[in-house]
Amino acid sequence: MKNKRFIIILVIGILLIIQLFRINTTNPEIIQNKDYLTVSGAPQEIRTNLKNSCYDCHSYETNYPWYSKVAPVSWLLKNHIQEGREHINFSAWGDYTPEKQVALQEECAGEIEKNNMPLKSYTIIHTKAKLTPGSKKSLVVWFGQIKNSSNR
Ligand code: HEC
Repeated sequence: MKNKRFIIILVIGILLIIQLFRINTTNPEIIQNKDYLTVSGAPQEIRTNLKNSCYDCHSYETNYPWYSKVAPVSWLLKNHIQEGREHINFSAWGDYTPEKQVALQEECAGEIEKNNMPLKSYTIIHTKAKLTPGSKKSLVVWFGQIKNSSNR
């Protein structure tokens, strides 16, 4: 019995201590004319879907929910956001070369088609981010047809 109580106190102690290691939840400044949706002039349906399903991890417009302040969940979240932005950052679209923009859009179409994106672990909680078959199709067509948004 004594042992059990010790372990519970230890676990609570560890959970409390790790709360000291906070993640930074401030977004970098958003420059609208570098944003993908501005540059590409995407129609409303595409805008809504990308904002709902992709922007939390692939832009500087991340919405941090309350549990993003609670370790160790916060660390996992930070990792997804960091990695996501490294792969493709819609807020820094204007900084990519035209070739890169073409390649990234092709990748987007592919990832959506294969159901790799948005991440499953994300849509379980953010049910609104789950793409319907219809919105999936529109996104795949959109990313597939626009080979180079910088020419528009
Ligand atoms: C929960 C965070 C999250 C969301 C939401 C999300 N992604 Fe990602 N995305 C990632 C991470 C992390 C990676 C890099 C690791 C990987 O490929 O799993 C990534 C990688 C990618 C890649 C690059 C794949 C590669 O092989 O380099 C593309 C393209 C992409 N995402 C597009 C999208 C699109 C489009 C959406 C919305 C429909 C989306 N993502 C939603 C986190 C996310």
